Amino acid sequence: LVPPALRPAAKAVYHRLFRIQLHIRFWLADRLRTSQSGLPVPPAILRYRVSELIPVEPFLRIGEGCAILMRQLAYEMGIDLTKAGRVLDFGCGCGRTIRWFLPDAADPEYSGVEFHGVDVDAQAIAWCKEHLHGGHFSANPLLPPLSYPPEFFDVIYCFSVFTHLDEAMQDLWLAELGRILKPGGLLLMTVHAESAVEILDEAQKSELQLRGFAHARSQKLSGLVPDWYQTTWHSREYIVSRLAAKFGDIRYFEIPGSHQAVVGAILLPLRRQSCQL
Ligand SMILES: C[S@@+](CC[C@H](N)C(=O)[O-])C[C@H]1O[C@@H](n2cnc3c(N)ncnc32)[C@H](O)[C@@H]1O
Repeated sequence: LVPPALRPAAKAVYHRLFRIQLHIRFWLADRLRTSQSGLPVPPAILRYRVSELIPVEPFLRIGEGCAILMRQLAYEMGIDLTKAGRVLDFGCGCGRTIRWFLPDAADPEYSGVEFHGVDVDAQAIAWCKEHLHGGHFSANPLLPPLSYPPEFFDVIYCFSVFTHLDEAMQDLWLAELGRILKPGGLLLMTVHAESAVEILDEAQKSELQLRGFAHARSQKLSGLVPDWYQTTWHSREYIVSRLAAKFGDIRYFEIPGSHQAVVGAILLPLRRQSCQL
């Protein structure tokens, strides 16, 4: 109904109203906050940044589901997470997934594993440090390197992180994760699944078809997330070939009922890497 010339202004007004109602809902949720589980719960704005959800119980249940899924997929890739020496949750946010591996919530089976979580969101990391015991948390800069030495981790997983980076940042971070992973170590990362492509406009769909990569920008969450943090889609062929420079045994797991797929890959020894990343 809005004339084309007025659409950008109408969109800007809509986005502003959307953000105002969100802040009201955050304020209310933090005052009424109750978690039946008795577990520590991050403030609504931190929950929203990682899940675009405000209610507590789905935030907890989805995180627990992600932790179970990571363990299952690691197992399918030949790695028993309970026997890994060091595991990194890259882009851990306010700990939605990693919390389920830490002593307060996890099975004692994980007691021999050292779990690390990093994120650019310093507020989320401050919350994790204060409330999630037994993990090692640190805030990282926007671009690599991380402070870890080479070949430090046995497993690195990233849930819904590369679904937000542009291509230049993606390539820098894939190279950095390859640096700190041990040869033979496992990378598990999510990408948008084919079922998530529907929301793209025609131009973005054809870019995805042509290049295998699309990065859509929106001002909807402006001020709630940094400006560089947008939404990214990868085709299956694109992400597999991007990883193939350094990784072998690359597998693409479709997750029933989810708009994300998980890609698993094993870091090749240096002499077998082609150094394209
Ligand atoms: C959708 S959230 C998911 C958070 C968490 N993985 C989870 O599943 O709950 C994406 C997270 O990636 C983080 N992130 C994005 N780019 C990053 C980067 N370059 N380094 C570290 N964290 C990053 C964001 O700050 C955000 O917390």
